[in-house]
Amino acid sequence: MRALLLFTLLISALFAEEHNYSYKKPGVAPVDNKLYVNECAACHFAYQPGLLPSNSWKKMMAGLENHFGVDATLLDEDFKAISKYLNDNSAEKAMEYKRSNKIVRSMRDDGTIIAISKTPYFIKKHREIPNRYIKQEEVKGLFNCIACHTTAEKGIYSERDIKIPNYGRWDD
Ligand code: HEC
Ligand code: HEC
Repeated sequence: MRALLLFTLLISALFAEEHNYSYKKPGVAPVDNKLYVNECAACHFAYQPGLLPSNSWKKMMAGLENHFGVDATLLDEDFKAISKYLNDNSAEKAMEYKRSNKIVRSMRDDGTIIAISKTPYFIKKHREIPNRYIKQEEVKGLFNCIACHTTAEKGIYSERDIKIPNYGRWDD
């Protein structure tokens, strides 16, 4: 009886693990919040909430008065609504999406990284791109996802949809 119980526990633990680590959908969930687009995509592309865990979003939102060197503060009610949207749709709550899953699993110092481009998964994926293609006028920096990922707006970051300005398709 005890052996059976242990066996059942073991099996359910294995399945819980499996469930946690599996993903069925490609990319990340697309943005579906108008307020977020209006307020957070004025200076750059509307990063999908599934690109960072909630701790990172929380930390970023706590420092909007000095957001990467610029003031991105919001009205109180917008701040609350956007914080909730980011939290509810953050990467660890969207583990069925491939990229959210990979980003979460790559995080080592959870919560201290507030740039997607500083997450270990992102760094690993982008380290082979020559600097001249990143720094060029048409791109400016790795923060500018949409400059190379033609389907970034849909939350799709597959290799076949990458086109780097003045370079072309990416084959590695
Ligand atoms: C006034 C302009 C401005 C507004 C408004 C703004 N940002 Fe930014 N954001 C920036 C700048 C500048 C950077 C740094 C880009 C770079 O690396 O040079 C940045 C970077 C980021 C990054 C990191 C990108 C990376 O490199 O991984 C995230 C995530 C981000 N912003 C989210 C937000 C969110 C969420 C909001 C809305 C609450 C917002 N931003 C509003 C200007 C802005
Ligand atoms: C200078 C062009 C460029 C910019 C800007 C850029 N990427 Fe990439 N990205 C690439 C290339 C090239 C790869 C490598 C594909 C490979 O070798 O698998 C890649 C890979 C990826 C991958 C993994 C894809 C795969 O098939 O394994 C993800 C996810 C990704 N990028 C997301 C982003 C996000 C999010 C941003 C913005 C914060 C961004 N990228 C900015 C060029 C870029």
